[in-house]
Amino acid sequence: MKVVAFNGSARKDGNTAILINYALMELGREGIETELVQLAGKKIHGCIACYKCMQNKDRECAVKEDIANECIQKMAEADGIILGSPTYFADLTTEMKALIDRAGLVSRANDFMLKHKAGAAIVAARRAGGTNTFDSINHFFLMAQMIVPGSSYWNIGIGREKGDVEKDEEGIQTMKVLGQNMAWLLKNISR
Ligand SMILES: Cc1cc2nc3c(=O)[nH]c(=O)nc-3n(C[C@H](O)[C@H](O)[C@H](O)COP(=O)(O)O)c2cc1C
Repeated sequence: MKVVAFNGSARKDGNTAILINYALMELGREGIETELVQLAGKKIHGCIACYKCMQNKDRECAVKEDIANECIQKMAEADGIILGSPTYFADLTTEMKALIDRAGLVSRANDFMLKHKAGAAIVAARRAGGTNTFDSINHFFLMAQMIVPGSSYWNIGIGREKGDVEKDEEGIQTMKVLGQNMAWLLKNISR
């Protein structure tokens, strides 16, 4: 079993990555393989609405010159997907939005190819807008017919500078419980 996580922050190894890693650690403890893909510094742009994926139905985006297809393939091969984003102006980053739009349309074009996988959102915020970012990511999972595990709070960690989220004890606990619940879900739906 495998969970692949994507960090949509423009900042590598920042607060979002730290929060994701707490959830991945719990998944690893349960014997689940994990991988973290950080979008920072990589090329990914938004959907160009060519709708070629709807004709091709080849489980790929027709636009090949960035990392979208590599990410979509990793999603297709995984049992669980974590999408993490910091909050930028009360919503997700442009990088994460680009990945969601591209993967979301390819999934729909291919008979909901991500259907029945587990999906979880992880969010970092300095102060406000985190729940909106959380909701935005969950829109993707819920329309892709994926199954979303919960935690002891919404999956948001508070911090501004790199590493600040380590001081948010409740945020870290939320990520750990999320990782445990995602592992429980994966083991039970794979029976
Ligand atoms: C362009 C930009 C916009 C931001 N907007 C918000 C915001 O609306 N609400 C908030 O709480 N924090 C906001 N922040 C702060 C980040 O969400 C916060 O620093 C977060 O911990 C960064 O995570 P990272 O280290 O993974 O990049 C913003 C940061 C940037 C760079």
